[in-house]
Amino acid sequence: MILDNRLFFPATERNRKCIGDLLSTLPLSRGSILEIGSGSGEHGVVFQKLFPEITWQSSDPELIHRNSISSWIDYEGLNLKMPQPLDINVEKNPWIIPSVIKKSLQAIISINMIHVASWNCAKSLFRESGQLLKNGQFLILYGPFKIDNQHISQSNNLFDKSLKIQNKFWGVRNLHEVSEEASRNNFIQEDLILMPANNFSIIYKQFSH
Ligand SMILES: C[S@@+](CC[C@H](N)C(=O)[O-])C[C@H]1O[C@@H](n2cnc3c(N)ncnc32)[C@H](O)[C@@H]1O
Repeated sequence: MILDNRLFFPATERNRKCIGDLLSTLPLSRGSILEIGSGSGEHGVVFQKLFPEITWQSSDPELIHRNSISSWIDYEGLNLKMPQPLDINVEKNPWIIPSVIKKSLQAIISINMIHVASWNCAKSLFRESGQLLKNGQFLILYGPFKIDNQHISQSNNLFDKSLKIQNKFWGVRNLHEVSEEASRNNFIQEDLILMPANNFSIIYKQFSH
């Protein structure tokens, strides 16, 4: 390793096992999974090792995060298996994705992203995923959500307030509005799973083409 740019995101330490367990229950076979807003890249290398048949394609708009992802790939000895991260900002359409990944794409996942980005980013995520995924394929979201516009815990409420202080466009999203955006882009909610620490996983399934 020439430069060690690895970042360590504490939340990934806590949620990688339960997200990995959930992914294991989905009918994901060979092909590629595109991760949006990969952050440090810790999830990517863990899931790449967990699902060796799959090509895990990480992405992030921040250079510091892409450098971290590359360092994690290198550190874990996955250079021959895992592609380098893509520079994808969900709002910049269309996303530039190598054709080998696009052709073999079978799912898109975004972990803890849509509450630390503007609502337009969530809209773009659904719009572009709706174009890229085919009938029966999954878009998987993980993070905190409000149910009927209510926080499911006091800690989520405080977290939401702290997000809004950092950026007025950020905030914990209302599941109902997220799902409306999903159905506008030909996704149906296949499953909603309460995860540890007051988070949810939402499995959306593409149903159009
Ligand atoms: C809270 S971090 C989560 C990172 C990682 N998924 C995790 O769970 O550790 C949010 C990530 O979303 C990315 N992000 C923010 N705005 C984005 C956008 N417009 N398009 C794609 N990713 C974005 C950030 O760069 C950051 O890596």
